[in-house]
Amino acid sequence: MRGRMNDVASYIEPFKVNEPLSGGIVGRVVESKSPKFTPGDYVLGNLNWADYSVASDQELRKLDPNSGSISLALGTLGMPGMTAYFGLLEIGKPKAGETVVVSGAAGAVGTLVGQIAKIKGCRVVGIVGSDDKAAYITGELGFDAAINYKQADFREQLKKACPQGVDVYFDNVGGDITDAVLQLINHHARIVLCGQISMYNLDKPDIGPRNWWLLLVKSATLQGFIVSEYAERFPEGIREMAQWIKEGKVKFHETIARGLGSAPKAFIGLFKGENIGKQLVHVADESLSSL
Ligand SMILES: NC(=O)c1ccc[n+]([C@@H]2O[C@H](COP(=O)([O-])OP(=O)(O)OC[C@H]3O[C@@H](n4cnc5c(N)ncnc54)[C@H](OP(=O)(O)O)[C@@H]3O)[C@@H](O)[C@H]2O)c1
Repeated sequence: MRGRMNDVASYIEPFKVNEPLSGGIVGRVVESKSPKFTPGDYVLGNLNWADYSVASDQELRKLDPNSGSISLALGTLGMPGMTAYFGLLEIGKPKAGETVVVSGAAGAVGTLVGQIAKIKGCRVVGIVGSDDKAAYITGELGFDAAINYKQADFREQLKKACPQGVDVYFDNVGGDITDAVLQLINHHARIVLCGQISMYNLDKPDIGPRNWWLLLVKSATLQGFIVSEYAERFPEGIREMAQWIKEGKVKFHETIARGLGSAPKAFIGLFKGENIGKQLVHVADESLSSL
């Protein structure tokens, strides 16, 4: 959504001034002219940030409220979950015994990347912006180590946490943090370029040190991706992720803001590190809050 606030050509159209923002929304059908949906159905779609939206049935996917919390369709069993799943497994290709480093490690995508890498038998190091987040990903999620990038000796800590170097780096943030990780990459390392959140709000591009030679000397691969490229395979990813949740191998956390009016603050909070796990905004009235 942040990318769509810049008036530049990208993989998705920029937002238009004076039109509502849109994003991943779970809603309840109140009225339907389509035989596919009846009032009361829960649906997922790319809809407006609004109390009510009108959508065609092509744009909506029906959700089963009995299959667990419907909010998971926006997180672990939705776009962020599939970003972690396909980005790590298809591009990162982690092997048991390898070291996986993930930045933005306490966020919606990062928490899942680390847990999937643990399932695959890797040593997992997360980079986060607070000691509380570090305690959460090691204590609750089973990461092997967590580094707070706001501490002055973060580079030394990172090196210590990766005694065998870094085989897979899942990058959510870019900037200085990525420069530090690249210093530690191993021969044939895979770098998954998922996000660059440290750059999204900069007025001028931050070029930084030119580290490409590190990729050259290590014969490393860096690959960017957009999760929608894997859309056809989402059912497969959702199935496996749901199974891992059932088995207790994947845990999730949601940070929930209440009311449509809280949406801008919640959105801006992403850039200040205010969320743990998936940031959601609960727009509907409280009669739906049990969901
Ligand atoms: N390629 C794709 O298809 C795809 C799909 C979904 C998301 N993404 C990208 O993946 C990344 C993670 O998305 P998400 O939804 O899981 O967000 P998120 O991690 O839940 O939330 C953002 C987190 O980023 C960290 N952050 C904010 N500003 C930072 C900075 N200047 N330097 C370092 N860390 C900073 C904050 O955590 P700290 O407290 O740790 O700083 C914040 O909590 C984003 O870059 C997003 O754009 C890509």
